[in-house]
Amino acid sequence: MFGLKWSLFATLASLSCIDAANILVVFTFPGKSHGILGEGYVRLLLAAGHQVTYITPFPSKKSHPNLIEVDVSRNVDLSPTKLIDIGKILDKEVDPNDMSSFTDILLALNNSTYTNENVQKFLMDPSQKFDAVIVEWLFADLSCGLSAVFNCPLIWFSTVEPHWIVTRLIDERLNPAYNADCMTGNLPPFTFKERVHELWNQIFIGFFLDYFYVPKEDKLYNALFGPAAAVRGISLPLYNDVRFNASLMLGNSHVSLGQATRLPQSYKPIAGYHIDPDVKPLPEDLKKIFDNEKRGIIYFSMGSNLKSKDLPEKLKKDLLKMFGTLKYTVLWKFEEILPDLPRNVHIVKWAPQPSILAHPKTILFVTHGGLLSTTETVHFGVPIIGIPVFADQFNNVDRAVNKGFAKRVDLTYTIADDLKVAIVEITSNPRYAAKVKELSLIYHDRPVSPGKELVHWVEHVIKTKGAPHLRSPALYVPWYQKMYLDLAALLLAGLIAIKIVLKRLFCSKKSITSEKKYN
Ligand SMILES: *[C@@H]1O[C@H](CO)[C@@H](O)[C@H](O)[C@H]1NC(C)=O
Repeated sequence: MFGLKWSLFATLASLSCIDAANILVVFTFPGKSHGILGEGYVRLLLAAGHQVTYITPFPSKKSHPNLIEVDVSRNVDLSPTKLIDIGKILDKEVDPNDMSSFTDILLALNNSTYTNENVQKFLMDPSQKFDAVIVEWLFADLSCGLSAVFNCPLIWFSTVEPHWIVTRLIDERLNPAYNADCMTGNLPPFTFKERVHELWNQIFIGFFLDYFYVPKEDKLYNALFGPAAAVRGISLPLYNDVRFNASLMLGNSHVSLGQATRLPQSYKPIAGYHIDPDVKPLPEDLKKIFDNEKRGIIYFSMGSNLKSKDLPEKLKKDLLKMFGTLKYTVLWKFEEILPDLPRNVHIVKWAPQPSILAHPKTILFVTHGGLLSTTETVHFGVPIIGIPVFADQFNNVDRAVNKGFAKRVDLTYTIADDLKVAIVEITSNPRYAAKVKELSLIYHDRPVSPGKELVHWVEHVIKTKGAPHLRSPALYVPWYQKMYLDLAALLLAGLIAIKIVLKRLFCSKKSITSEKKYN
């Protein structure tokens, strides 16, 4: 009896807790915000006692006994954000949303990552073992090959609100009648035209991905991961079998930031996990500025990808002049200190964004609307003015405007005037601040913090050996069966058969009667 109890206890204990796991975290995209998201994983998993190997273009050089960083900083040379030229965007010479070359950049980026000698070293070392691999998904599925090489569960991390290209990896496409693509910027409810646009987009992009892009990835998959599999004496599974085999997808999304999307069991929204709950106090110089301000602080930062210093001289002067007319203090994160600063404008080269947004005197955040800024703004409850420049920023800002806590201003030569109108509106109308506070309440009102949830689900996957119970049955059903096209074909065939039979009967009767006539 005691023996049985004991073994039961031992089994339960081994199920409910795992020893420190060895986890591979892969964020190869050379954008600062992607680096911040990756660091969030590293911080949380280390704090939970795990061993982390982190492939990153931004090695922190911080030493931690349980952390190994694999440096792929050469990826920074391939950054698509390097191609952004604010001058050309202002002159409308380039369309910042032209994504046709984007996919090729991503393939080059994957190639650069996995041929990097730092990555090769541990990829080709058969003694390296992992309990799970977490990969940032960014328009390429190639990194799934790591789970095949290390024969461990795969966890995707999707950086934006859920969209059909990622949900099809773990379940199926989202219905285009009420779910926008990640690039179109349409907001449901759609007009007829938008609904058709969304459908066309899924068909067209799906065709492009399946017939042009995935074959390229497949070739690269075999070239990059084949040798690593060979040194382990395993044969590489088919690319499509690995791509659609993830145990889980963690999403940088939450219903307070996006919409109430219908999601599979293997998708877990964890937006906000990257924000450290311990907000550091302001540094001395900023603290002084905040202490001396009575009316409120406007924080202006165009993010880390877009260098404000690329702005034309005239725009800088116009902006300074306009900021000088405001009755608030403007804190401008900028790479150069401008001459003739108005009394109420302060330029800082580096800014602790969370500490600034957390401060009760911050009344407005003027942002490019990047991946993290809109999350942070809801986290801290500050209304925004978005000046989108690139990629998902347009959608992020439009969504914030639609939710009612933001104004959008476009990057044009009249930006100073347009910005002033928006600033006056947001600072004089309390509905923006009220709305963002309301969303902030929804955002924070979760059973557990997103950071805890992240650790929980990663451990759950490891404990349950890949969490096959979360796997969506939709993955095994071909699209024509989901649409019952086989049934439709059967019914059609039946109808045709009946028609033929009836026709035969009718014709033969007719010929009999006509025969009778002649007789
Ligand atoms: C799919 O994932 C499961 C769980 O991690 C694993 O056991 C299986 O070998 C994987 N299959 C392929 C083809 O990668």
